[in-house]
Amino acid sequence: MEVFKPLFNSSIDEIIEADRKWDAFFLLPKSFQIQDSRAELYPDIEREALLTSYQDYYKILSDIDPGENLCDLGAGLCRGSFLAQNANLPDCYSIELSQERIDQAKAASLELGYDEKFLIHGDIANIDVERFHHFYLYFPKSPLLFELLQKLRGNASKRKTYLYVTESHGDMLSYLNELSFLEREASFITSLPRHHEETIKYRVLTSQARSLLDELTLLWGTGVFLSFTYEHLILKQEVDWIFPLSSCDLHMHDKAEVEFLPFKRKMNLDAVSFCEVSNFERNQLRDEAKLLRGKDCYYLEDKSGRVFEIS
Ligand SMILES: C[S@@+](CC[C@H](N)C(=O)[O-])C[C@H]1O[C@@H](n2cnc3c(N)ncnc32)[C@H](O)[C@@H]1O
Repeated sequence: MEVFKPLFNSSIDEIIEADRKWDAFFLLPKSFQIQDSRAELYPDIEREALLTSYQDYYKILSDIDPGENLCDLGAGLCRGSFLAQNANLPDCYSIELSQERIDQAKAASLELGYDEKFLIHGDIANIDVERFHHFYLYFPKSPLLFELLQKLRGNASKRKTYLYVTESHGDMLSYLNELSFLEREASFITSLPRHHEETIKYRVLTSQARSLLDELTLLWGTGVFLSFTYEHLILKQEVDWIFPLSSCDLHMHDKAEVEFLPFKRKMNLDAVSFCEVSNFERNQLRDEAKLLRGKDCYYLEDKSGRVFEIS
């Protein structure tokens, strides 16, 4: 049986050709397209844009100590699991939400006599991180990440935990680099052109939050509320806009920002504060309107900017 060998000093075309050859060798489907039309599953995307090259999986898996394993979070065609078994590298568990992709990988695995336990149909949001030592992410940044990072810190309190990340949309590494509980430990040049030319290896630390961005990342999903105070043009008064952290994304571009997702509204992180919320206020919160606390009463403002007093 042919065993994978990494390429050195190869052109992009040679790497793509080798990836296609190994997909065929592992009996993986030629087309990445799937019937499920959910946008987060990338139903129509081209494989070179979406999949990590076998060359890069090889670098990551070779970096892992024998006896430890890797969990590929959103695994696509599950290339890492096939490569690990072929080249006798540390175990790679592939978690993939698309039933079709997992079914295709399982059919190929069965035919090759590989172990099906490495191919898991599931949602990253629900994984039991304790089964795994290290994690690979080539995935767009979204609030899904915050609970995952919280869980990885839990893992790191029990054993050394590493997170390997390839940039997907240009906003992941800038955010992760800012978190004090992720320590950049190494990097690997990616074999194919990517948003960022390196896959970064972070050690997950259990240290306490040192910045507001750290703190909000670790508090996401725990029922915390924020407020943003500003001068309202229509109401002609200062108002506190109250919103739950769990309706927000967190970003780090030139500065740290919080984005209230239902309105796609971004605010500087240093302009928001933690906010105690009464039962009345909690009952008024909704995604389709901003809850504004004015001088003497409350208001709701809809997405078209219409403001209604709440009595
Ligand atoms: C950019 S691809 C990366 C695939 C693979 N890790 C690689 O690098 O070749 C992301 C994959 O994540 C899957 N995905 C999206 N949301 C997911 C979720 N919540 N849980 C598990 N997989 C998910 C998509 O279907 C897609 O196959």
